[in-house]
Amino acid sequence: MPKFESLIRPYQNRVDIALKKLLPEEGHSRLTDAMRYSLLNPGKRLRPILVYLASELGKFENKNIDDFACAVELIHCYSLIHDDLPSMDDDKLRRGKLTCHVAFDEATAILAGDALQPLAYSLVSKSQNIDDSLKVKILKKLSFACGWNAMVEGQMKDISIKENITINELDEMHKQKTGELIKTSLEIGGLVGELQINELQMLSNYGENLGLAFQIRDDIIDIESPSEISGKDQGSDILNDKATYPKLIGLEASKKRAKYLVEMAQAYLDIFSNKGIKLKNLAQFVIQRDH
Ligand code: IPE
Ligand code: IPE
Ligand code: MG
Ligand code: MG
Ligand code: MG
Repeated sequence: MPKFESLIRPYQNRVDIALKKLLPEEGHSRLTDAMRYSLLNPGKRLRPILVYLASELGKFENKNIDDFACAVELIHCYSLIHDDLPSMDDDKLRRGKLTCHVAFDEATAILAGDALQPLAYSLVSKSQNIDDSLKVKILKKLSFACGWNAMVEGQMKDISIKENITINELDEMHKQKTGELIKTSLEIGGLVGELQINELQMLSNYGENLGLAFQIRDDIIDIESPSEISGKDQGSDILNDKATYPKLIGLEASKKRAKYLVEMAQAYLDIFSNKGIKLKNLAQFVIQRDH
């Protein structure tokens, strides 16, 4: 998808520049080196891109949107470090490099994740040119998305459930562990862009469907993408006997469901007319990607 890649690259570059400024230079401490190692290793930066694109639907000029784009990536990177730990998915590869606990050690990886998370809240709270009331709204959303009733609960289910899961329960788990932060990234962009309530609702509906489709595609990637392409340990879900979409309904049905969810997601953007095209294309990328 070369055309699409060129569309998202400027946003990736933009957030990468902002992320680099957040931590001290290499060699400052073992802790900050581990944080840098995971944060600056380039991922797709999907969640920051969602913040940027959602803010572009409204008025985003003169706002420090980079702070919010960095905040969602910080939360995401913390969650990846912990997700890879031996007591969780026990993975060795992340973004094509050794996982944080392998490159450093387990205790350092836990602490690096611990330290990335509050940095996200700190960035939001210190951001300039944004009303305090808006910051509080954003902090409320962000803290919910990674809390006991969303990401962490989803991760808890992910490590506990081995069998007899229903499709509705799987949807709920995927929405909690992955979907909520994706939806929240869009909502944050929408809030900073001062969208109307009905527009925010449509964006949120788009995000809910996109988030679930994203995790279904992630489950498919675990089976279909070689590690050289995905940058992750292929077959990790199978090895860990995880409850996944392909395991429950098969590969082809999973692909169909992801496609259906993306079509639903795209339809919610119709109220933005031409302005919604980038987010529509992004949704297509989410279910076609192999990494
Ligand atoms: C992987 O997320 C973890 C999930 C929530 C499924 P991404 O596929 O967005 O990972 P990076 O950030 O591009 O490495
Ligand atoms: C990770 O889901 C979800 C979170 C990090 C919250 P996965 O375990 O499926 O992600 P990958 O496949 O390791 O990237
Ligand atoms: Mg996991
Ligand atoms: Mg994992
Ligand atoms: Mg996965």
